[in-house]
Amino acid sequence: MARTLYERLGGYDAIAFVVDSLMARLRDDARLARYFAGHGEDSAKRLRQLQVDMICQATGGPCFYLGREMRTVHKGLGIDGGDWQTMITHLVGVLDSFKVSDAEQKDVLKLLNSIKNDIVERP
Ligand code: HEM
Repeated sequence: MARTLYERLGGYDAIAFVVDSLMARLRDDARLARYFAGHGEDSAKRLRQLQVDMICQATGGPCFYLGREMRTVHKGLGIDGGDWQTMITHLVGVLDSFKVSDAEQKDVLKLLNSIKNDIVERP
C-alpha cells in the first residue's frame, strides 16, 4: 500500500516541528507580524495545535481537526497574494532546513495550493 504523505514527512513530530518553525518565521517577518500581533501565549498555542491537527489529518495521519473552516477563520483578515507568497517562501525555507525531499515538498505545496482560495482574499 502506498505510504501516506503523513508517513513520508516523518509523522506527527516532524509536522509539529515544521509548524513551530514556520510560525516563528511568520511572526518574525514584519510583512506578516500584524496578523499575529496581540496573540497571547495561550492563543498562539491553540492556533499552533489546530494547524498541526489540520495538517496531520489532511496528510492522512491519525488526527481529527476540530477547528473552523479555512474560509470562515481567515475571512476579513485581508490576506493577499503577496502575504501568501511570503508564507510559502518561509515554508520552503523550513522544509529545506529539515531536508524534506523534493517529492514531499511538491505534495505539501499542492495541498496548500488546494486551500489557497479559501484563505487569500485579495490578489
Ligand atoms: C499567509 C498565510 C496565512 C496567514 C497570514 C494566516 C493567519 C491566521 C490568523 C491570524 C488566524 C487566527 C484568526 C482568528 O482566530 O481570528 C488563523 C487561523 C488559522 N489558520 Fe491561518 N493563516 C495563513 C495560512 C494558513 C494555512 C496555509 C493554514 C493551513 C495549512 C492555516 C491554518 C489555520 C488554522 C487551522 C487556524 C485556526 C482555526 C480555528 O481557530 O478554528 N492558515 N490564521
